[in-house]
Amino acid sequence: MTTNIHTLFDEDAIALRVAALAEEIGESKPQDLLVVAVLKGSFIFAADLVRAMHRAGLEPEMEFIHLSSYGAGTEGSDTIRVLRDVESNVENRDIVLVDDILESGRTLSFARERLKERGARSVKIAALLDKPERRKAAISADYVGFTCPEKFVVGYGMDMGHAWRQLPFIGYVVAPEEAASDGKTGG
Ligand code: IMP
Ligand code: MG
Repeated sequence: MTTNIHTLFDEDAIALRVAALAEEIGESKPQDLLVVAVLKGSFIFAADLVRAMHRAGLEPEMEFIHLSSYGAGTEGSDTIRVLRDVESNVENRDIVLVDDILESGRTLSFARERLKERGARSVKIAALLDKPERRKAAISADYVGFTCPEKFVVGYGMDMGHAWRQLPFIGYVVAPEEAASDGKTGG
């Protein structure tokens, strides 16, 4: 396979940010901490983050919610469907909701409201990547790994048509013609 993927954030950069985020989360002294990973895209980030939390002296429990957004992608038309819900009791717990990318914010707004309605003491958002210029919902992340450029990114859990989740770094696919011209400006 000769698909060209341009690296945006390499393994070392990601590891440093994840460790820093875990320290930051620890500084808030969370009580009865529950990490809720939004599937599927966050699975690698969440796995690294909870281990970094352990190194930072935290004892998080771990849960999963699988959400899917349907709609034509037109503004305000997306519906969020719950494919798999959180099973643990969230009442009076400090929750860190973990996702790969905060883009429109609809997915995480939905998840946050759901957990608050069930009595969570607090719900904070940890997003590996933030695309702030694409926001539609009134939401921001409490913990951000990196601000993401205007690219469709893959790797470290994130996919393009189910591919590339396995990459240990974050990058974007370079179109073959782009790769071939290799930086030359077109006519
Ligand atoms: P939103 O914040 O509700 O718009 O949802 C953002 C979700 O869209 C992310 O959790 C990803 O699943 C997906 N997504 C957005 N941008 C990208 C990208 O560049 N690569 C891969 N998935 C993306
Ligand atoms: Mg997602």
